Amino acid sequence: MAISNAPLWPFVPVAGWSRRFVRAKGSYLYDDTGRAVLDAGGGAIVINVGHCRDAVIAATAQAMQQLTYVTPPFETPERTMLVSKLRDNWLPRGIERVHLSSGGSEAMDAAMRLARQSHVAAGRPERRKFIGREIAYHGTTLTTLAAGDHAARRQGLETLFPDILRVPACYPLRAPGGRFDPDCGAQAAAALEALILKQGPETIAAFIAEPIVGSSGGAIVPPDDYWPAVRDICDRHGVYIIADEVMTGFGRTGRNFAADHWQLVPDIIVSGKGLAGGYMPIVGVFARDEVVLPLEDAGWPLMFYTYGAHPAACAAAHAVLTILEEEKLVARVAGLEPEFRAMLEDKLKDHPHIAEIRGQGLLWAVEIVRDRETLARFDEAAQITAKVVAAALERDVLLYPGGTGSQRDIVCMGPPFIVTEAELARIADTLCTAIDVATGRKPGP
Ligand SMILES: Cc1ncc(COP(=O)(O)O)c(C=O)c1O
Repeated sequence: MAISNAPLWPFVPVAGWSRRFVRAKGSYLYDDTGRAVLDAGGGAIVINVGHCRDAVIAATAQAMQQLTYVTPPFETPERTMLVSKLRDNWLPRGIERVHLSSGGSEAMDAAMRLARQSHVAAGRPERRKFIGREIAYHGTTLTTLAAGDHAARRQGLETLFPDILRVPACYPLRAPGGRFDPDCGAQAAAALEALILKQGPETIAAFIAEPIVGSSGGAIVPPDDYWPAVRDICDRHGVYIIADEVMTGFGRTGRNFAADHWQLVPDIIVSGKGLAGGYMPIVGVFARDEVVLPLEDAGWPLMFYTYGAHPAACAAAHAVLTILEEEKLVARVAGLEPEFRAMLEDKLKDHPHIAEIRGQGLLWAVEIVRDRETLARFDEAAQITAKVVAAALERDVLLYPGGTGSQRDIVCMGPPFIVTEAELARIADTLCTAIDVATGRKPGP
């Protein structure tokens, strides 16, 4: 047998991510030495009902006993049950069409295809331009990387991207008018309208944004006037809104969708990490009827992915949503928010390297800076985020690294919705210690 120096896993090694996990239960992962690690990031902000719940496993197994695979356009009981539940209990009124893929990147790509095909089929072929925002991540296909603004993940690929326009993020901490400028929402919305007018409204297909920015920015919540203003602008100019709620949907921020905080009804919502809570790969593209009807009338499919709407994934998602409903976990997330905020503030509000503690529901982040007066960041080479995550993992708490490279030193938290108050306190405490270790205020490990 050939001897290879290549690692068995992962494809390209990631510094600090070297534990071997062999099982999980509830809010904990267990490594091969039996050590329990508190899953404070819910993996990549995915786990919501907790790990390895019998009801989800049983529903998934049962679906697999019934049916191995059938191409996505065919009805199966798992597919129709899931879509009924989504329409009855989860999706905003007016959003009725459900397309299912197996990952967020694929789903965002499908949403962009849908927006473009909808305009073309409706007789608006000139609407071909998309507008994304700075500090955004929408996935790793070439089109979704182009729509986002994640410097680290775009490296070496720039020549391959389609042209996508970009407006500033709505980022209160670093608002152009100064820290927490109350006009920053209105200004960011005005920048969007100015770009639409400059380009010609009749050429714009869609505006793509996360209603609350996930890990690329670190739980950036816009002021309350931002999304209503954006909805108004997009309505006036016939521009679809594609809300990327891959990370924020299904209760993560204390509402079904982050858009619900502002009664925003997008034209297309993409959401999925929480849809099956990590049990199976499934992400939804949810659209208003008016967006889909032109394709239907033209006889165009929205081409499926082979593994989209897999019956076992639909069954897992249905079981996860049932747990969220029966255990009222979205309300629990909203209820835990003030307590977790207070815990984080108690530990970190006056910390010399913390610029902001921010979040909503159970999606939280801290932004670490070298100088909290000027908001100057540490050098990229200092690798602060990686050091914080490593120091916390030493203490058996798994955080989720955020940032984009240029936007950096963001550490995210997204624990399962079943997390206890004692566990939240442990997360806040460990985060504080890990930041002290990473910034040299305390000796490591
Ligand atoms: C907001 C957002 N959009 C898209 C994606 C891409 O999803 P996936 O990794 O499932 O392709 C992610 C993944 O983290 C995300 O957070």
